Amino acid sequence: MYYPDSVIDEVRSRNDIVSVVGQYVTLKRAGSGYQGLCPFHSEKTPSFHVTPSRQTYKCFGCQKGGNVFTFVMEYENVSFPEALRILADRVGYELPKVDYSEKSAELRNKRERMLALYKEAAEYYYRKLRSDVGRYGMEYFVGRELNAETMRQFGLGYSDGKLYNEIKDRYEDEFLRESGLFTFRENGGAGDKFFNRVMFPIFDNNGRVIAFGGRVMGDAKPKYLNSPESLIFNKSRNLYHLNAARKSRRGYLILCEGYMDVISLTQAGFDNAIATLGTALTEQQAQIIARFTKDVVLTYDSDGAGQTAISRAIPILYGAGIRARVVDMKPYKDPDEFIKNLGAEEYEKRIREARSSYRFEMEYLQTQYGDINSSDNTDGMNAFIDAAARWMVRQEDELERETYMKAFCADYKVSYQAFTRKVNTIGAEAAGRAAADAARAQAEAARAAEVLDGDGEAQVAPNGKAGKRDEILNTQDYLVTILGSRPRARRVVRKYLSVDDFTGNVYRDVVKRCYELPEGETADVATIVSRFETAEEQRLAADMLSDEMALRTGDVSKAVEDAVMKIHKRRTEEKIAKAKEENNLNEASRLIRESRKETEALRRQLRTEVYG
Ligand code: UTP
Ligand code: MN
Repeated sequence: MYYPDSVIDEVRSRNDIVSVVGQYVTLKRAGSGYQGLCPFHSEKTPSFHVTPSRQTYKCFGCQKGGNVFTFVMEYENVSFPEALRILADRVGYELPKVDYSEKSAELRNKRERMLALYKEAAEYYYRKLRSDVGRYGMEYFVGRELNAETMRQFGLGYSDGKLYNEIKDRYEDEFLRESGLFTFRENGGAGDKFFNRVMFPIFDNNGRVIAFGGRVMGDAKPKYLNSPESLIFNKSRNLYHLNAARKSRRGYLILCEGYMDVISLTQAGFDNAIATLGTALTEQQAQIIARFTKDVVLTYDSDGAGQTAISRAIPILYGAGIRARVVDMKPYKDPDEFIKNLGAEEYEKRIREARSSYRFEMEYLQTQYGDINSSDNTDGMNAFIDAAARWMVRQEDELERETYMKAFCADYKVSYQAFTRKVNTIGAEAAGRAAADAARAQAEAARAAEVLDGDGEAQVAPNGKAGKRDEILNTQDYLVTILGSRPRARRVVRKYLSVDDFTGNVYRDVVKRCYELPEGETADVATIVSRFETAEEQRLAADMLSDEMALRTGDVSKAVEDAVMKIHKRRTEEKIAKAKEENNLNEASRLIRESRKETEALRRQLRTEVYG
C-alpha cells in the first residue's frame, strides 16, 4: 500500500492542520499560531500549539508533536495508510487504486505484513483449538462454561507450539524474531513462544489481531503470557474488546481487570465490557474510552489489589472527564465468579446500585486508617479526615465538590465549617503548586517558541528545556529532590552538606525546610512551594523538588555520593578562590593541600553510609 510522494503531498496540502486539529480540539488564536488543551494528555492550562506556517503541532506538556498525518495517527490510533485514507476522504480526494494483484507481496509495508502474520497466527490457534491436539484447551474452556458462540466471537484458540514450523518458510527469521511470537535460541534453533496454552487474541479498533494473551490450563506460573509490544501493538493505547464494546447500545462501558471477566460478561449479555491488557489503566486509555462514553462502571477484583487498582483508576478516568462508578461483587471475587453464582440479573442489579466514586473512595480511604469509629483511634480519624479533604481538593467541579463535602460531613459526623476550612487550606497549597506548574509550562513554551522561531527548526531538548544549564544546578536539583523524597538518604546528606553549601537563595530555603522535616518524613511539595511568594520562585522550588532523574533512580547510593562530592568540591574551590582573592596565600595553599585528603576521606565515609 505504497503511495507516491506526490499523492501524500497532495493530501497534506489539501488538509490544513488548523482545520483538521480544530475538528477535535478547541483552538484559540495565540500569536502567529493557535493553542488549546492537549488531546494526548490531560491538562488544565493549554500547552498544545498549532503553527500554521509550518503546518505542525507541538504539545509542550507531553512533547507530542508532528504534522497532520501524525496527528490523525495518534488521535485515531491508526497506521499511516489509514490516516492517509481518512484525510483523503475528508477532502473528497480519490486515492489512486493500488495494484494488489502483482506487487502486493513486496509492496505491503512491514506493518501490514506483521498484521498478516498475526492474523495467520490467530487462525492457526483457532483451528488447533477445534482439532484433536487442542482437545484439552477445548475442555478447559468448556469447563469454564464458555459456549461455542462465545469462543468464536472472541477468536479463542490453542497453541500446540508448532506455529513456527508451519510458517517458517514464508517469513525471514529476522521478521519473525521481531514479531515476538517466537523464541530464538543461541544455537540457531527457534520455536514458539506460546506452547500448550489457550490463546486470547487482542484486536485493535479495526478488528485486526495485534497481540495475544496465552493462559496455562492449570496453576503453573506465569498464568498469562502476553506477546510483547511491537510495531503493531502498544499495550497502553489499546483495550481488550473495545472494538466490539464501543458499538454496544448500553451507553456505558464496564471496565474489568481480566480477559476472562470480559468474556463471561459478554456471554451473560453485557456486550459493553472491556479490560486493560495486563497493566494498570493509563491516561491514554482513559482518553480513548472518553471518546466513546463518559460513563464507566468499574468491576475489578474484590481483593485488596483490585480495590487499590480501582482507587488508582478513578482519578485517571476523572482526568479524562469520566465519572466512574464501582460495582460491589461481594462475596465473589470477580464478575466471572459472580455471574456463575448469582446470574446476570443479579449482576445487572449490582450495576444499578454501583457506588459513586465518592462513596467508593471514602470507604476505601477509611480502610487505610483502622477502625476510625473507635475512641482509641482519634489519630486515625483525624488522618482520615485529612485524606478526605485532600480528595475533595482534587474534585474540580465546584458544585460537585460541595455536594461531596456535605455528604461527607453528614456521613462521618464532621463539622461542615471546620471541614470547609481544612479543604480551603489544602486547596490554597495545591493552588500554589498549580500556579508553579503553569508558570513553568508557560516559561518552557516561551523558551521553546523562541528557539523555534529562530531558524524554523525545532531545537528543543526532549525534556522541553532549551539550552544548557549549569551542571552544578542540575546536581543540586537532584539532591534536593532526594532530600524531599528519601528520608534515609537525607539523614546522610545532612551530615556532610550544610544549607550554605548550596548556591542560590531558593535552593537554600528549600534545603533548610527539608532539613527541618521530622525524621523519616517526606516533603509535601505543595506546602514548600506555597511558602514562596513570586511565581518564579515557586516554579524554581517545584522544579528542584521534582527532578525526574532523582524520582526515577532506584538505588541512590552511588548517585548521592557523587552529588555530595561534586557540591563539596565546588564549595572547596570557592573557598580557595576567596582566599586567593584576599591575598591569603597561606590559607589558600593549606586549603589546596587539605582538600585532596579531605575529599578522599569524605568519599570513604560516604561509602559506608546506608541510604534508603
Ligand atoms: P487475573 O489473574 O484476574 O486474570 O488477571 P483473569 O482474566 O481473571 O483470568 P482467570 O479468570 O484467572 O483465567 C487479570 C489480567 O492481568 C493480566 C491478564 O491480562 C489478565 O487478564 N495477567 C494476569 C497477566 O498479564 N499475566 C499474569 O500472569 C496474570
Ligand atoms: Mn480475575
